[in-house]
Amino acid sequence: MKVTPQQMSFLSTFLKRRSGVVIDQSKAYLVEARLLPVLRQRGIPDFETLVERVRSSREPAIEQDFLNAMMTHETSFFRDRSPFEAVKRLLPELIRRRALARHLVIWSAAASSGQEAYSLAMLLNEHFREALAGWSVRILATDISEPVLARAREGLYNDHETARGLPVELRDKYFVRFQGKWSISQDCRRYVEFRHMNLLDPWQGVPPCDIAFLRNVLIYFDVPTRAAILAKMHMILRPDGALLLGGAETMLGVCDTYDRIDGVGCSAYRPRQGREIGRASGR
Ligand SMILES: C[S@@+](CC[C@H](N)C(=O)[O-])C[C@H]1O[C@@H](n2cnc3c(N)ncnc32)[C@H](O)[C@@H]1O
Repeated sequence: MKVTPQQMSFLSTFLKRRSGVVIDQSKAYLVEARLLPVLRQRGIPDFETLVERVRSSREPAIEQDFLNAMMTHETSFFRDRSPFEAVKRLLPELIRRRALARHLVIWSAAASSGQEAYSLAMLLNEHFREALAGWSVRILATDISEPVLARAREGLYNDHETARGLPVELRDKYFVRFQGKWSISQDCRRYVEFRHMNLLDPWQGVPPCDIAFLRNVLIYFDVPTRAAILAKMHMILRPDGALLLGGAETMLGVCDTYDRIDGVGCSAYRPRQGREIGRASGR
């Protein structure tokens, strides 16, 4: 079954408007491959009917199925390693600076099925348990997709998922066997709060952040959308906080109000402050 150029045009416009995700006309094969299971599951006979039902705006469940099917949720524990090493290097100074408030917020801003947030929780337990004893530490983990958030809250991962990126020692220390899978321990769950959030919407209820992971999501957006999100992130990050992007993501040509943090081995940035912003961008 093939999707026509007109159907493709409607679906890609809808996807972009609702999520920011851009998919070009040449990707019809991808749209077909991802939507066929939705058609089958919902008993929808063809793409034209799907388009009509999405267009009608009367069936939020079908809209959600469509959006979820079109998103890439790829993730793994300690994905790319270097951002986690960077957090290990950045945290001692942040902990010193927050010694009075004893409060720390880390945000996993496109959390998918939760491996990123739980990796951060394991890292805190492994390396900062004593330093953070008695502190209020919060890992906020958000995503646009309810099904992946449900999985994240469940915190159950199969052998294949735990074999990707998670050292066996950490698996044995922070997971317990449950129903043939691995269930993340309370030690890690206690830090993490999962919440539904579309990065395109106003960021209501997101507290000032000390560290934000915004990884492997900007690549799906066009440049104006990336710039708008990075501008919002600038307001949410504390002045001495850090933003970590994915390995294939950069600020170059998108946003010039951050400074790269050198020497941490990954795409890490600090929000530039006040007059420095105007000076650097010639304003
Ligand atoms: C490839 S995953 C990245 C997961 C994790 N950050 C990592 O690097 O492993 C991208 C996630 O971004 C989410 N996403 C896409 N558009 C979004 C939006 N507008 N708001 C919030 N999340 C979005 C998707 O649902 C998906 O789970």
